[in-house]
Amino acid sequence: MRLKSLKLNNYRNCQDISLDLDYDKIIIVGKNAQGKTNILESIYYLSALKSPRTSNIKDFVKFGENGFNIEGELYKSGTDVSLEIDYTLDKTKVLKLNGLKTTPKNYKSAFNTVLFSTQDLLLLRGTPQDRRDWLDSAIAQIYPAHDERLTKYNKIRVQKNNLLKSENIDNSLLDVFNEQIVITGSNIIYTRQKFISELKKYALEKYSDISTNEKFSFEYSFKHFEIDDIAKALRQELEERKSEELARHQACVGPHRDDIFFSLDEKDATKFASQGQHRTVVLALKLGEIDLIASKKGYSPVLLLDDVLAELDDLRQNYLLKSISKNTQTIITSVDTLLFEEDFLRNVKIYTISNGCIALK
Ligand SMILES: Nc1ncnc2c1ncn2[C@@H]1O[C@H](COP(=O)(O)OP(=O)(O)OP(=O)(O)O)[C@@H](O)[C@H]1O
Ligand SMILES: [Mg+2]
Repeated sequence: MRLKSLKLNNYRNCQDISLDLDYDKIIIVGKNAQGKTNILESIYYLSALKSPRTSNIKDFVKFGENGFNIEGELYKSGTDVSLEIDYTLDKTKVLKLNGLKTTPKNYKSAFNTVLFSTQDLLLLRGTPQDRRDWLDSAIAQIYPAHDERLTKYNKIRVQKNNLLKSENIDNSLLDVFNEQIVITGSNIIYTRQKFISELKKYALEKYSDISTNEKFSFEYSFKHFEIDDIAKALRQELEERKSEELARHQACVGPHRDDIFFSLDEKDATKFASQGQHRTVVLALKLGEIDLIASKKGYSPVLLLDDVLAELDDLRQNYLLKSISKNTQTIITSVDTLLFEEDFLRNVKIYTISNGCIALK
């Protein structure tokens, strides 16, 4: 899969950009605050309809303007695909696939990306919410229905929380919400479990390619794997902790409370891993994600590397650049090109960005 071109109109600090991306490897170079992350964010948004920086679409609109537009031309499995997102402040966003309006679910299965930014390097030190967000975003690249399920689940959870906060709690309504939590929640847990076992096949191998000193693994916190067992265990836990939920006036049971545990030699990596080991874990996860998407979809996703090379030591930088296969289009941002070996630079297209405007280097 290759993103051949990108057009931005009033997206963040980019007023009007038209970028030819029809190359294997692209580096966008620029000083701080010029728009490097904005460009990668727009590409990620074009593929996933979400951003790690904000959940408010209005933030993408260039200050003082009343909407934005992103267009991309994609080459995938021998055919051209065009994508477009059009948003104006007084209307909802319009998604177009090959010029025709479409639904978010349908739209999201068209274009796959893996975004790796410096923020991801904090995954192990972050909150359980950060880890669930990482997992859910990665899952949605392969199973687009996952996002819709999460939205549905969160709506039920909010309704249940409102009920738990009310003065006279209707017990039969609480049972209705709990049953809905069992149905949507067990599907979410099942998909997360399934994805983790699939990702492990690739990520553990990547880790041992970089470091053979310790054995890496990761697990989801819920200890059941089959959908019926998950539903049964969830229903039982909701029943057992009902009085706790009533006392705390909040939903304490369900996939919104789960976590992912990372281990090195069977010890908790969040507590004992060195900074370098943390980075190796995240690098192995991201590279594993690329291979997993490629194996499921039959083509490699577009890899977006936002400033991460500067954060990795020589060993990990080299491993990353060497292990990106030829057919993985890679778009890299960096403050300079000093980090890259001459060999690598010979085969890349380099753009510079300044104040939201792009030029050829
Ligand atoms: N909606 C918006 N409208 C206009 N400008 C915006 C908007 N959102 C962000 N910006 C500005 O875009 C600029 C570039 O941001 P970006 O995060 O892309 O920088 P960067 O090149 O990645 O910098 P760094 O190297 O520090 O990461 C910032 O000055 C930011 O204030
Ligand atoms: Mg940046």
